[in-house]
Amino acid sequence: MTDLLVPTELLTGIAEMDGQHDHLFNSMLQVKNALLSVSDVDEAGLTLLAQLLEELLEHFAWEQEAARANGIPFEHHAREHARIAAFVRGKIPELRNGRCNVPALMVYMERSFESHVAHFDLGLGTALRAAAQARRTG
Ligand SMILES: [Fe+2]
Ligand SMILES: [Fe+2]
Repeated sequence: MTDLLVPTELLTGIAEMDGQHDHLFNSMLQVKNALLSVSDVDEAGLTLLAQLLEELLEHFAWEQEAARANGIPFEHHAREHARIAAFVRGKIPELRNGRCNVPALMVYMERSFESHVAHFDLGLGTALRAAAQARRTG
């Protein structure tokens, strides 16, 4: 657990969710390295970004299912997921057309993701741990 990319204050205490977040931070780092290492955006960077979008969608689906299975309200959280997914999806054609400031995009994506975890996923983690606790004691 020493080389996690997720900042400690963003750990939810739900191992599977934290593992997925760590994986996503790792993917973002790879996209960043790929997009920033070339002067023109290339296919490899775009492919990595498309993969990151797929990973995000899978992760969002996992959180939604975990919430549903535990009776945790998720509408507001799901709207945020949809907003992030639409943002990333919209960046792919912009990057392809060269109409995108790549360094600014990467900083924005990292901050958005961290902010999402802080404002939505930490609360989900607390609710999931409470639900597990209730199952154990109930
Ligand atoms: Fe998440
Ligand atoms: Fe989330």
